[in-house]
Amino acid sequence: MRARIPKILVTGGAGFIGSAFVRLLRGTVPKVVIIDKLTYAGDLKRLNEGLSPKGTVPHFKFYKADICDKKQTEAVFAKEKPEIIVHFAAESHVDRSINDATPFIETNVKGTQILLDASRRQKVRKFIFISSDEIYGEIPEDKFNESSPVRPNSPYAVSKAAADLLVQSYIRTYKFPAIIIRPSNNYGPWQYPEKLMPLAILRILEGDRIPVYGKGQNIREWLYVDDCAMGILEIMNKGKIGRIYNLGSSQESKNIDTVKLLLKTLGAGGERFEFVKDRPGHDIRYSLDSRKITRELGWKPHVDFDEGLKLTAEWSLKHISWLKSKLKDINKFYNRDSSPRGLSLKRKG
Ligand SMILES: NC(=O)c1ccc[n+]([C@@H]2O[C@H](COP(=O)([O-])OP(=O)(O)OC[C@H]3O[C@@H](n4cnc5c(N)ncnc54)[C@H](O)[C@@H]3O)[C@@H](O)[C@H]2O)c1
Repeated sequence: MRARIPKILVTGGAGFIGSAFVRLLRGTVPKVVIIDKLTYAGDLKRLNEGLSPKGTVPHFKFYKADICDKKQTEAVFAKEKPEIIVHFAAESHVDRSINDATPFIETNVKGTQILLDASRRQKVRKFIFISSDEIYGEIPEDKFNESSPVRPNSPYAVSKAAADLLVQSYIRTYKFPAIIIRPSNNYGPWQYPEKLMPLAILRILEGDRIPVYGKGQNIREWLYVDDCAMGILEIMNKGKIGRIYNLGSSQESKNIDTVKLLLKTLGAGGERFEFVKDRPGHDIRYSLDSRKITRELGWKPHVDFDEGLKLTAEWSLKHISWLKSKLKDINKFYNRDSSPRGLSLKRKG
């Protein structure tokens, strides 16, 4: 007899990584419940593509709801009675957090607390919290493991760290059945084009120059989004309650090298970028020791950086109208006088 599949609720399922996770569950889980506020970063196209207009019944049930709204959130829990929560919903862009930390504290901290309490009341079996490598702060050399101190620098990273610590306090205080996952920088299809890679691709395809912060020396560890979704699924199925797992690829690249690789992958001229005033407080390097998840659960990333860039470029060429549809919003944010990246986002003549 096959074991009954528990009911899964995903927050932020219309976002970049959340939607990759929901797509991964297609065909394996009868119905996923999604809560998403559909902020500027949320888009149901990420979930609906490939579903024929009349034919296929979606494998998810969608609630447009705000996790900061206790009543709304509790109503979904009461109706759906989820058993596993996978919590992605967040404000996720560092530059926006520097401009205004308010929605970051609201959604990332308060929203997480409301979800934790709704989950406790519901007596959920598992609560998977998607944290971030940015909570450790920067590391010029060496790598962070799961016991490294938490020293976040940007308002975004602080809001994620606060939520991460709150989840830890619930594990300790209430024996709450949570697992924390700290992924490194993701890239791949459907990423909102305010982030480095899709922004660079959009600029290349528009014939514009790519704005690069500082001298492009900041190093990020790049994880292909489908590998991230698979790691989260492994942890959801087999991870130990109460544990923390780093989720990285060991594939590090300086931002300037990433931009040059993208130019090469898209067959564009080599120097089509410009250095702009650095992001305030810009962390120089993130780097994760992810041996624990490999040792305990056998997870390893499958997509190497070159292949991931190729897949991302191919996807972008097919979805250029989706990327362009976000331009107005991105320009609205970046074309403020205070934004060096924004100024260079204006079209060159
Ligand atoms: N993208 C990365 O490289 C990365 C790396 C490490 C960790 N993370 C974490 O992974 C998670 C997902 O990141 P992402 O890149 O997919 O983010 P995203 O910005 O693409 O998506 C966030 C989603 O959350 C929804 N949302 C925002 N506020 C909400 C609210 N108050 N109530 C309900 N829904 C709300 C948005 O509508 C959107 O669909 C986040 O928690 C982020 O901190 C991301």
